[in-house]
Parts: sequence; structure tokens; C-alpha cells
Amino acid sequence: MLCLAPHGRQGAGAPAGRRHTRAAPPSHHHSPTASEEATLYDTFNLRGRVALVTGASSGLGAHFARTLAIAGANVAIAARRLDRLQAVAADISQAGARAVAVPMDVTDATSIEDALTRIESELGPVGVLINNSGVAVTRAAIDLEEDEWDQVVDTNLKGAWLVARACARRMIEARTGGAIVNIASITALRVAGGLAAYAASKAALVQLTRTMSLELARHGIRVNALAPGYILTDINRAFFETPAGEAMIRRIPQRRIGRPEDLDGALLLLASDASSYMTGSVIVVDGGHLQSPL
Ligand SMILES: NC(=O)c1ccc[n+]([C@@H]2O[C@H](COP(=O)([O-])OP(=O)(O)OC[C@H]3O[C@@H](n4cnc5c(N)ncnc54)[C@H](OP(=O)(O)O)[C@@H]3O)[C@@H](O)[C@H]2O)c1
Repeated sequence: MLCLAPHGRQGAGAPAGRRHTRAAPPSHHHSPTASEEATLYDTFNLRGRVALVTGASSGLGAHFARTLAIAGANVAIAARRLDRLQAVAADISQAGARAVAVPMDVTDATSIEDALTRIESELGPVGVLINNSGVAVTRAAIDLEEDEWDQVVDTNLKGAWLVARACARRMIEARTGGAIVNIASITALRVAGGLAAYAASKAALVQLTRTMSLELARHGIRVNALAPGYILTDINRAFFETPAGEAMIRRIPQRRIGRPEDLDGALLLLASDASSYMTGSVIVVDGGHLQSPL
């Protein structure tokens, strides 16, 4: 458990020259009271917030929507497949939270505006955006068709920008501030063969995150990115059962593929007031995969 020492210094921060000196216990040290503990955890709470998750009809987006609902948010879940969204919404509602399924194509600005207007009327203005919609085409760059490139970049980069732009405009107008979390990938930071359009779109999404964080800070809007490593979802389940997939898992320092719930801590941190002094940050959650030996 994290021990609160309001004016104390963490061990790792002690000046090097004093490292061997045995420090007397600080006189102000005390065990956290129940109310201090409650205040600390409360900063992660999303009670009363409206959170929009794009790409919530499957995989990580559906999981993120559940996690945000557990943290107290009323969630709007958006994607193109309405039947899948309705199933996710029903599942969340059954657990006692409020969830609304809204059709949205992130490559279409009109569809985004229509969805936001509907969310505002049913739940209220969006305060937390999880920009999660994404697609991947796995093919060597020289074999990639132009329409495949466009689909990946239009969804992962332009789509994320269109949704962030629409939400930020409304947050500025309503003077509410907000938190935008862009779901990037470790391929934004290191590459893998066959993912040219995907990796380029995610690297650009990281730069979009940084640029928008700079421009929106004055409006109380924070923009951060979460860069997951390989997380088991329906799109990669079959691959990770093949010898190539198993070999990849052996190259991950923690020797396992991620689970959607491995992202919960970082997601809640970036979505909530617990990260109120963070903007333009990129949090990697990958079991150490980026540190695999060259
Ligand atoms: N799984 C991983 O290992 C991993 C690792 C790093 C990053 N990520 C990122 O995490 C995000 C979610 O991935 P996932 O693994 O959960 O994959 P997934 O199950 O295929 O989910 C992708 C979601 O994006 C939605 N989507 C695609 N095109 C859309 C469009 N034009 N408009 C609105 N929604 C659209 C899909 O819904 P509809 O088809 O219903 O529209 C679907 O809900 C993606 O951005 C992905 O790049 C995943």
C-alpha cells in the first residue's frame, strides 16, 4: 500500500552523498488515515463524468467501456456495428452502470457530430474521450494497396483527430475542460515488418497527441496517449496460437501476452484527475516488449 508522507522524500530521490547515512525516521511520519486513503483513491474516480469510447463494439474498446463504468462514469460506446454495441451496453447496464450505444463512423465528420449531439442529449457533454477505434492491415509496404493505406490512416489518424477535434470544440464551448486519451501502440515507437501504414498512423497519432496537448492546455483539456504492447483480443488470438505468435511471446521480457485488464491502471490514470498535471505524455504498457534485445 502506498504510504503518504506529505512532505517526505522517497528513498530514490535522496542525494547520492547521503545514501549510506542512516536517516532518522521523519518526525511527521504517520500511517494514512482512512480519509487520506479515500481522498487518494478518489482522484481516480469518474463518478458523474460522461466518457465516450470509440471502437467499443469489440476488443479493447468494449473492455475500456466496462472499466470506465466500474470507475463511475456514464459511458457512450461508439463504433459502426450497432448490434455489437448494444450487446456491450446491455452488459454494462446489467452491472448497474449507465451505457448508451451510439453508431459512429470515425472517418465521417457528420456521423461524429450526430453521435455527439445524441450523447449530449442522453448523457450530457463528454468529459472523457477514449480515442480507440483502429484498424490494421498486415502486408509489406510494397504490396499494400492504396485503399488499404487510406483505410488504416483515415481510421487511426484522421479519425482520431476528427473525434478529438469535435469533442475539444464542445469542451471549449462549454468551458468544462476534459481528458482525451489516444490509444496508440508500441509500433508508434518501434517497428515490426508488415505494419507500415499501421505503425506510421500510430507514430503520427503520438505527435497529434503532443500537438493537441500543447494547444488545448489553456482550455483545461489534457491530451495523453496510451501505447499498448500486444494484448490478446479477437483480432490477434489466432496469430498467438501459431509458432510465430508463440515465438513473439518468448521475446517479450515478461514472457506473456497482455490482457485487456493490464491496461486498466494506465487508462484510469489518464482518464481521471489522478493525472491532472499530465498532458502530452505517452504511457507504454507492454510487459517490457520495447526493451527486448536488439
Ligand atoms: N490488441 C492489441 O494488441 C493492440 C495493441 C496496441 C494497440 N491497439 C489498438 O487498440 C485499439 C483497439 O484494438 P482491438 O485490439 O480492440 O481491435 P478490434 O477488436 O478490431 O477493435 C477495433 C474497433 O475499432 C472500430 N472501428 C474500426 N473502424 C472504425 C470506424 N471507421 N469508425 C468507428 N469505429 C471503427 C471497430 O468497430 P466497428 O467495426 O464496429 O466499427 C472495433 O470496435 C486499436 O486502435 C488498436 O490499434 C491494439
